[in-house]
Amino acid sequence: MQLLPGKNFGDYGKQIMAATERQKRLLKSTFIDFKQTSEVIRDSLIFEKAKGLYCWDTDGKRYFDAIGGIFAAVLGHRHPRVIEAMKRQMEKMTLAPPLHGIGDITLDLIEKLGEVSPGNLDFVKSFSGGSESIEAAMKFARQYFKQTGQPGKYKFISLYLSYHGGTFAAMSATGSGKRKTKFEPHMAGFLKVVSPIQYRDRFSSWEETNRFCARMFEDVIINEGPETVAGIIIEPICNTAGIVAPTHEYLQILRDTCNRYNVMLIFDEVLTGFAKTGSMFAAQTYGITPDIICSGKGLSSGALPMGAMIAREDMADAFYGAVEDDVQFAHGHTYAGNPLASAVGLAVIEEIIENKLCEKAEKLGSYLEAKLEGLKKYGVIREVRGKGILRGIEFVRDEKTMEPFPRDNKLGTALKRTSLKHGIILRIDPDWFAVAPPLIADEPDIDEMVDLIEKSLREALMITGQT
Ligand SMILES: Cc1ncc(COP(=O)(O)O)c(C=O)c1O
Repeated sequence: MQLLPGKNFGDYGKQIMAATERQKRLLKSTFIDFKQTSEVIRDSLIFEKAKGLYCWDTDGKRYFDAIGGIFAAVLGHRHPRVIEAMKRQMEKMTLAPPLHGIGDITLDLIEKLGEVSPGNLDFVKSFSGGSESIEAAMKFARQYFKQTGQPGKYKFISLYLSYHGGTFAAMSATGSGKRKTKFEPHMAGFLKVVSPIQYRDRFSSWEETNRFCARMFEDVIINEGPETVAGIIIEPICNTAGIVAPTHEYLQILRDTCNRYNVMLIFDEVLTGFAKTGSMFAAQTYGITPDIICSGKGLSSGALPMGAMIAREDMADAFYGAVEDDVQFAHGHTYAGNPLASAVGLAVIEEIIENKLCEKAEKLGSYLEAKLEGLKKYGVIREVRGKGILRGIEFVRDEKTMEPFPRDNKLGTALKRTSLKHGIILRIDPDWFAVAPPLIADEPDIDEMVDLIEKSLREALMITGQT
């Protein structure tokens, strides 16, 4: 069956929710990220409230939020501890003049983020989101090299299929074509290497693929000239490639390569941070310490726009001098280090530590993985990937030959609608889908979630004539 937008597919063609004429008119006055507005108007999804694992639309329909907003609400929506911390801080101060001083609560957050980060990553600045943290990290690395006698180091190497944010430098580092080609030309000095997932069928094992792909970074550095390369920027587990978890050796090769050529290893942990992978950061899950971690999303459990750059403390020495030296980091934002956001960040980290949510992510993640593996019985799943509760499920047209679906994957497209119809929010690409349930979930919640996924998948298979 052809799945074309606007066509009626019987029950499948029903609207997800009935938007009012006013809502539809207003939807035309804005845009939903990366979506065509005509599709948004046809399949409107207007949320009214959220609590814990669930969101409700303005029709009163309940959805299981299997990705915590968008990999953000690690404690679920409106966690009582987060709400309480916000209320307390709102009574005191919500904006500290950022050009003149800093909130005391922001210093508390800096200390806490330093404590929970690996190695000597103790130099911290919080921002309003992931992209800002990525921008800051790249500017920090460039200025660092200017002030440490290697001013020619300015290039960054990242992965095809990656996503690092919507701002210009973060987009230039991004390797996912559909989110960047419309804005070309990009900034100069951004180079790409293939993701291991793109080469996996050329090698006999995942380990071998990873080894080969990791070594490409060194080839690029040598070809470009090590004196021109400032950093490697990589998600330890790449979401937009389909939740691709590399081998430990892959990240170790990157670490060794960076050490060899004095190149900064920057982990984009905007998505992987804050307990999902079984540790506070995926860097700790893998046992690899980068020079800079960029975080976002989970830091506020989605309650406020927030991110942070966490860098090696000794790098900060290059920015510390007398006033006349003018070596301070030449960077800032109105809402950087915001006191209200800091109170939220602190509450989230304390909740993760006190309730041992990293350990829970690991244990619950194994349970989730086993349940998702059970979906292979439908014959359209190649792999269940990821770590902890961050899992990706890749579709394949034929599980025996591993023949992939064509780019206009109709199964994934159908799943986008059947999942909403059955009341579950997933991240669907459409060649794969991902889940990362909030860590307030327990095994019965995982059962409910996978049950909803199964019902949605079964209906998507039926609609696309694959049963
Ligand atoms: C890995 C990664 N990096 C960076 C970003 C950008 O973060 P933000 O949307 O908060 O600017 C995202 C957002 O989805 C992300 O997933």
